[in-house]
Amino acid sequence: MAVDPVVYGASDRQPRGDYTRAGADYTCPQDYDSYTAVDHDTYRRLYARQAALLPGLACDEFIAALPSLGASDHIPRFEEINDRLRKATGWEIVTVPGLIPEVPFFTLLANRKFPVTDWIRKPEEFDYIVEPDVFHDLFGHVPLLFNPVFADHMQEYGKGGLKAHGLGACEQLSRLYWYTIEFGLIQQQNGLRAYGAGILSSSGELQHSVQSPEPQRLPLDIERVMRTRYKIDSFQQTYFVINSFQELFDKTAPDFTPVYERLQGLHDIAADARLAEEEAIQH
Ligand code: PHE
Ligand code: FE
Repeated sequence: MAVDPVVYGASDRQPRGDYTRAGADYTCPQDYDSYTAVDHDTYRRLYARQAALLPGLACDEFIAALPSLGASDHIPRFEEINDRLRKATGWEIVTVPGLIPEVPFFTLLANRKFPVTDWIRKPEEFDYIVEPDVFHDLFGHVPLLFNPVFADHMQEYGKGGLKAHGLGACEQLSRLYWYTIEFGLIQQQNGLRAYGAGILSSSGELQHSVQSPEPQRLPLDIERVMRTRYKIDSFQQTYFVINSFQELFDKTAPDFTPVYERLQGLHDIAADARLAEEEAIQH
């Protein structure tokens, strides 16, 4: 996702990327010449496996926009995607060496720039990586930036992030990011589908999130989400469901300042907690 460590969990690990390449805003040119034949082949294999899983599990808007990423048999040049993306929604992707701190991350989003990591995982990490790479960032996040409502929501999230930073509320806001932009589900005409990038770029979680009877699925409730901790190293045990991207936009539009204040007095909720008064969405 190319997002700050608040979202991916604090870690002692050194990030893999070479940050000496990055400018003050953390962006850099896509290092296209450094990709090896193995790198391109890793992307091709990840894309093919994931694309085959999408029907019946990914939301319609994602499936419709996926071809806009262009080539699926090698890592695309970001500039070619930008030619199409700028026309569609005025967004563009920029290259970053990996996870970046929260203020530069929010600033890019607020300016309709989505940071994408350029390096790709090693073949032995095919099924699981601890840091987002170009496959997660591009395949998971970029297709929905072609959707006008979702694209506007992402910009509002960036502005809201800068505000939350000033209010010391980044942890609360990062939970919202986690349970919507990364792991959100959407109820569509043909049934429950995934729209979160963390789900859509994962071969195992895609089916688990939509079809498994194990996790609980709750209607999106901003305060409930902001109180709910999350696990970064296992499938989610709780998912939050929207009915449309407009609902996501509308529910996140109000000023969160009083919400953050209210939440200060409330305890966190565990990732797997099932609260007696809550009704899960039947499956
Ligand atoms: N409306 C939120 C606020 O006032 C900002 C926000 C918008 C947060 C969209 C998330 C998504 O802080
Ligand atoms: Fe992500």
